Amino acid sequence: MAAPRFIERLNEQIAYEFAASQQYIANAVYYDGETLPRLAAFFYAQAVEERNHAMMMVRYLLDADAEVAIPGVAAPETGFGDIVAPVALALEQERRVSDQIAALMGVARADGDYLSEQFVQWFLKEQVEEVSSMSSLLAVVRRSKETPGFVEDYLARELGGAQAGDPTAPAAAGGAL
Ligand SMILES: [Fe+2]
Ligand SMILES: [Fe+2]
Repeated sequence: MAAPRFIERLNEQIAYEFAASQQYIANAVYYDGETLPRLAAFFYAQAVEERNHAMMMVRYLLDADAEVAIPGVAAPETGFGDIVAPVALALEQERRVSDQIAALMGVARADGDYLSEQFVQWFLKEQVEEVSSMSSLLAVVRRSKETPGFVEDYLARELGGAQAGDPTAPAAAGGAL
């Protein structure tokens, strides 16, 4: 049985993951409008990943026979001044989520909820990767302000291959997209 405090906090986290997904769609649409297809594709894909994170949390709560509240989310930011702004916002968001996930881990541990602690482990590892890839992208996009082709080439080179699925990822409700 998952700890009640953990269940409450995980339900809150579901809202943050869906909000992250919406924000990444907004980022993607901005880049699509600027005819920067690689940046757009990167954020469209990130949006699906965040949606999947939310659905993994939904699956966990369903499996734990806990209450699941599908939340409304805060509207994303859409007015970007330049091509750097959406990535800077994304990095800020990933850092905030890392803190949230660490806090979730703290609740599971404090309440002796070992199953939940193990569930959260995967998200901690995922955050390390996402913060690192977003801060690299921020460095590149900053160098590309006058020459956006530079970041487009970078993404084509670094993320050109198909993204392999992660066999250690938790199951998502309805299946991962
Ligand atoms: Fe996430
Ligand atoms: Fe993320």
